[in-house]
Amino acid sequence: MSNNKSYTLPQWLDKIIFDDFQAIYEPSPSEVVYNPDQPYDFVKLYLGTYFPRSYAEAYGIISHLLSFDKFRQHYIELEEVNLLDFCCGTGGELVGTICALQSHLPNLQRVNVDAFDANPDAIRFLYHLSEAINRTNDMRVIMNINPQCIFIEAEREIDDIVNLTNVQYHFMMSFKAINEFVQHKTFDTNAYELVATKLFQLMSQYGVFIMTDVSTRLNDSNLFYPQVMNKGLNNFLRSSSLYKSIIPAACFHHENNCPGCYMQDTFYVSHSKKSHDASKVVYRVVCKSDFANEIMSNSTPCQCRATNQFAEKNLPYNNICH
Ligand SMILES: C[S@@+](CC[C@H](N)C(=O)[O-])C[C@H]1O[C@@H](n2cnc3c(N)ncnc32)[C@H](O)[C@@H]1O
Repeated sequence: MSNNKSYTLPQWLDKIIFDDFQAIYEPSPSEVVYNPDQPYDFVKLYLGTYFPRSYAEAYGIISHLLSFDKFRQHYIELEEVNLLDFCCGTGGELVGTICALQSHLPNLQRVNVDAFDANPDAIRFLYHLSEAINRTNDMRVIMNINPQCIFIEAEREIDDIVNLTNVQYHFMMSFKAINEFVQHKTFDTNAYELVATKLFQLMSQYGVFIMTDVSTRLNDSNLFYPQVMNKGLNNFLRSSSLYKSIIPAACFHHENNCPGCYMQDTFYVSHSKKSHDASKVVYRVVCKSDFANEIMSNSTPCQCRATNQFAEKNLPYNNICH
């Protein structure tokens, strides 16, 4: 299934996406500017192009997490896990996460998902997709989804998400969405920092938050999204001793003094409409400090642009320092 961050959509999923839901592969970034008001035809386009990429990113990141012995030990016996997806869209990362969990956790039977997004067509699609997934014999794990349509206009809608749930999540995520809040200047503060401040409190003792975003430049600035994400997350992590990064391992070691560097990783996905489609992203995985220290107890400090400004941008993701 995987080789060097390269993944293939399982055949049953390829069939659901491209045959049953008639997704369209159209990698034209200028036309594919996703926003909450886009109609269903657009969702089909997004489904064919970006769903598989988010699937591969999540599959790769979850597999990486489960390669940490001390992380896996806390999950290996579990029969049920809780997952929150902030700005899920058509949910490629949800399906990638669930497929990766299914292949690594032999006892897992059920994944409970709270998924939030402003686009009603994407939310509706996700509901039908979960029904299709639960019907296939290829999935042992049941996806119990609660998709909720919510347009985040200000901090208070994120507070609503926090106040309305009494769940502590094992896996929390936001894939390639926070840049849209930055673009639209939804908040007057760093959007990554704000999301962390509000949502991390829903993380369970051995939970993780996976924050992923595009690696391009902001429309109206010389900054790139990875720099803005790193600065926001580092600010938050320095102000609270409760949490630490575990991926990239370099951030575990340097986040207390890193000024917010640029970094990027590439995942590849193949499916019936395209072979080896590349997706370039930035991501960090954060968990509670005690758990991070346990997982990283044998990790040695590693190179990145915080220690050497000429380091390769993908070094934090390719460093083996744990
Ligand atoms: C580029 S898509 C990513 C979707 C999905 N996470 C993925 O990786 O395929 C960004 C998502 O953020 C959602 N979004 C953007 N602004 C939003 C807002 N203000 N409130 C809620 N959702 C929003 C959009 O509707 C869209 O589904």
